[in-house]
Amino acid sequence: MSQSRGNFSGRIGLILASAGSAVGLGNLWRFPTECGQNGGSAFLIIYLTCVVVFGLPVMVSEFMIGRAARVNVGRAYDVLSPGTPWKWTGRMQVLTPLIILCFYNVVAGWTLWYTGAAAIDFFPTLAASGDGKVFTDFFAGFVGSWWKQIVCLITFALLTHLVIVQGVSKGIERASKLLMPGLFVLLLVLVGCAMFMPGTADGLAFLFKPDFSKIDSGVVLSAMGQAFFSLSLGMGILTTYASYFRDDADLGKSALSVCIIDTFVALLCGMFIFPTVFTTGIEPTAGPSLLFETLPSVFQQAFGGSHVLAYVMSLCFFVLLVLATLTSAISVHEAITSYVAEQFKLTRKVAARIVTVITTSFGVFCALSLGAGSDWLCWGDKPLFDWFDYVTAKWMLPIAGFFISIYAGWWLSKRIWWTQMTNSGTRRFPLFGLFFFMVRWVCPIGILLIFLNELGVF
Ligand code: PHE
Repeated sequence: MSQSRGNFSGRIGLILASAGSAVGLGNLWRFPTECGQNGGSAFLIIYLTCVVVFGLPVMVSEFMIGRAARVNVGRAYDVLSPGTPWKWTGRMQVLTPLIILCFYNVVAGWTLWYTGAAAIDFFPTLAASGDGKVFTDFFAGFVGSWWKQIVCLITFALLTHLVIVQGVSKGIERASKLLMPGLFVLLLVLVGCAMFMPGTADGLAFLFKPDFSKIDSGVVLSAMGQAFFSLSLGMGILTTYASYFRDDADLGKSALSVCIIDTFVALLCGMFIFPTVFTTGIEPTAGPSLLFETLPSVFQQAFGGSHVLAYVMSLCFFVLLVLATLTSAISVHEAITSYVAEQFKLTRKVAARIVTVITTSFGVFCALSLGAGSDWLCWGDKPLFDWFDYVTAKWMLPIAGFFISIYAGWWLSKRIWWTQMTNSGTRRFPLFGLFFFMVRWVCPIGILLIFLNELGVF
């Protein structure tokens, strides 16, 4: 094992870092709404099944590949299967995070701006100044301003950069151990407050009331897609992180812990968002408009009676968003930086600098494409920002997931499976046969179906 690459020092560190990657905007702006609109707990049962049947096996496969190869994801497949075209699966998993980081930093910048606005208590002023549309206008005004977006984007990119240059245990692990507990505490405070609101019963009913009539093949496929995105699969991140796991780390149990944490956080987000939204009678939305237009206004209405409570809830929420995006951005940055450093034989500092400069530069264009540069940075009906999102989420992630499971199920030797899953025979892995079957058959077929569904084939 190469000691110079750095390692996670222990079990908690690696689980929190991987969970930090998984817990992100997907938990906050997609899961609760998908769950509420697609049959409540009926969707939840299907989502949990997808996590167990697809998410867990693909996550374990990524972990195995990373720890067996002990190099960055771009080279991992060359190391395990030299001289084969599998190397392209690795290269693609460097390109995907590279594209993702460009637009992810832009959204991350928004979270900073809103945290600032919450901190100076700007939202009550805004709410007092007009109708419900003021929050939509505020968001549009911010996205339309090139300098505000660029300042926030660069600030966030620098924050991520500072963590990355510190290395694996002193940077990523330490940041995760600090940020993730902070995130849990904030989330619990928010859920705690949301449990005593007039809309609590309706909100929880929206989220949990089972409605099996809403379940059709489209819902099943979207649950699968959500599980994949939310667990950060197919982006090279988990393979990169696993290359820093110690030899005695239990891959199966670690993957299970990450899946449980990610799902638990997604549920808690729903348990806070819907009671709050239902208290004001506003229609729940999804995506950026939920986080940046609906919720800031909802906080003011729902807690308007108590200024202090409205202030605390807004601030907690946006700090929570910053923490969730930061731990995800760190993981994406690391997947690219470790490749650049090892492939071009650079120090971590120089590699990180190159990655930060390149992704921030493209990020500036993504940010401009939504506002000031929307006339020259749009192709077809999509701004550059949407293109980056579309190409990665709809194409590159499922394609990578498909090839990862084919590789692990059909190509990776049984010996590597056994060494990695039992830590060379020192641990038991009771469901080996079932797990292998899932990776070999169920995952590739399922992922192919999601892919075709996303492309509108069904
Ligand atoms: N798993 C993340 C989420 O749920 C997705 C993600 C991770 C996106 C890292 C970008 C970067 O939001």
